[in-house]
Amino acid sequence: MKFFIDTADIEEIRKLAETGLVDGVTTNPSLILKSGGDIIETTREICSIIDGPVSAEVTATEYDEMVKEGHKLAEIADNVAIKVPLTIDGIRACKTFSDEGLMVNVTLCFSPAQAILAAKAGAAFISPFVGRLDDIGHDGMGLIEDIGDIYTNYDFDTEILVASVRHIPHLLDAARLGADVVTAPPNVFWQMFKHPLTDKGLDAFLADWAKTGQSII
Ligand code: E4P
Repeated sequence: MKFFIDTADIEEIRKLAETGLVDGVTTNPSLILKSGGDIIETTREICSIIDGPVSAEVTATEYDEMVKEGHKLAEIADNVAIKVPLTIDGIRACKTFSDEGLMVNVTLCFSPAQAILAAKAGAAFISPFVGRLDDIGHDGMGLIEDIGDIYTNYDFDTEILVASVRHIPHLLDAARLGADVVTAPPNVFWQMFKHPLTDKGLDAFLADWAKTGQSII
């Protein structure tokens, strides 16, 4: 399972990258707004920190403009994945980019039928939004399962990138289903390290160690 971080916060990305466990980053226009940075400069900086795919999203809604924006984003670095929305123009742009050998992440996927379109258009990643589906009382993880079954039936190469992850159970369910990638906000990633019994056990070991009066080095 690959871990992507869902943020455009450079300092958070730097800290998480120090763990050596970050495989990529996803951003979107809302995350760019939150970061307060310029999309081109922010994407360039993230690409200099992270070797894996860094998704940067087009904001045009019409094909010709999307293609121009996508080319500009792809010029930033070789590891940029052009993010396009799952619309007719977005899927058209995805096909154009993938035919050119560019990496594409198709975002805002909420149905298996949409996921089929992205795979047929050669997307490197499909981003189904599990949290937003759960928010409206639908079964976000059921969508991941359906897409997984369908992609296996046809040997599609498109990787399932579980997005809109809100908490650890989402991440674990995605792992149980064998999803290729999970993109999670920094707080979910940090929570994975934590368990109260780890903290308690370490405190006890350190207290006993102090009583031995020894030192390893
Ligand atoms: C994924 O690429 C999106 O940026 C993200 O996961 C959306 O998550 P949200 O529903 O928490 O905004």
